[in-house]
Amino acid sequence: MDFKESLREKTSRINREISEYLPPETGFQKTILAACNYSVINGGKRLRPLLMQYAYILCRNNGSEELGPEEKTAVVPFMAAMEMIHSSSLVHDDLPCMDNDVLRRGVPSTWAKFGEDMGTLAGDGLMLYAFETACKSTAEPGKAMKCLGVLARKSGLFGMVGGQTVDVELTGKRPDKEQLEFIYKYKTGALIEASLMIGAILAGADEAVTKKLEEAAACVGMAFQIQDDILDVTATESELGKPIGSDSCKGKVTWLTYYGMEQSERDVSAYTEKALDIIRQIGSCRFLEELLISLIGRRS
Ligand code: IPE
Ligand code: IPE
Ligand code: MG
Ligand code: MG
Ligand code: MG
Repeated sequence: MDFKESLREKTSRINREISEYLPPETGFQKTILAACNYSVINGGKRLRPLLMQYAYILCRNNGSEELGPEEKTAVVPFMAAMEMIHSSSLVHDDLPCMDNDVLRRGVPSTWAKFGEDMGTLAGDGLMLYAFETACKSTAEPGKAMKCLGVLARKSGLFGMVGGQTVDVELTGKRPDKEQLEFIYKYKTGALIEASLMIGAILAGADEAVTKKLEEAAACVGMAFQIQDDILDVTATESELGKPIGSDSCKGKVTWLTYYGMEQSERDVSAYTEKALDIIRQIGSCRFLEELLISLIGRRS
């Protein structure tokens, strides 16, 4: 099977697995349940759960590239939780008070479909439901507790929310290069860091390996956000499934503002190479390496 086919197969498996953890849409609060499910179910590359699963496979290193049944009940709840947190960050990111975008994953963004009130509540609800979901993991309690700590820290004030704060605060202003790197490391890098770290911890990796994967993931995060900036300028709306030109429209300073297109493209490759170097020091997982390489020239 070639990489593209294998990616398609693994992504659709993840879609099925995640949907098993979504809440039923019943009860007086069914509007918000529908809004949460709408936000998660609609497409998405499922990059973070994929990274978590393959960091686990890299670190447990038993020659197989699949999860056994007992491994699934330990790891999949965290993969679903990660995608819920990521989706909740997108729901809030699109709100009128933030990026004010009406299209996400090829369909109306959550607030555009359900209203601003439900968009706000769905983002909150989804983020907390992620933790409820992660708690369903059958991982050994010590490991599970460590993972919950990573998930919380990297999602919150010292992670994605922290990065979004500086991003929003400096929109229309001129963040310097150091501030821009902070924004990328936190708003985008932090959830990618959590994904690789949780995979490692669940596989029983020690502190040193987990730390190395955190460093590799930080590089992946930088490459990923720089490519996101590039696509905002070079992709079409149908490729991206979200509005193009959104950054310049809001007067956002992006990587392209400082470094231009060619250097930005080189930086995407360089950050990815750095991540691969670190990962290869830990072990070998062909799918994980191919996945990271495939992100360099991604069009969506
Ligand atoms: C979009 O993330 C937000 C960024 C951090 C750039 P993705 O590009 O992973 O979005 P989906 O999940 O595939 O829709
Ligand atoms: C997204 O940054 C970071 C998040 C934490 C959601 P962007 O605002 O550039 O993401 P898109 O382009 O809307 O997906
Ligand atoms: Mg944003
Ligand atoms: Mg945005
Ligand atoms: Mg963007």
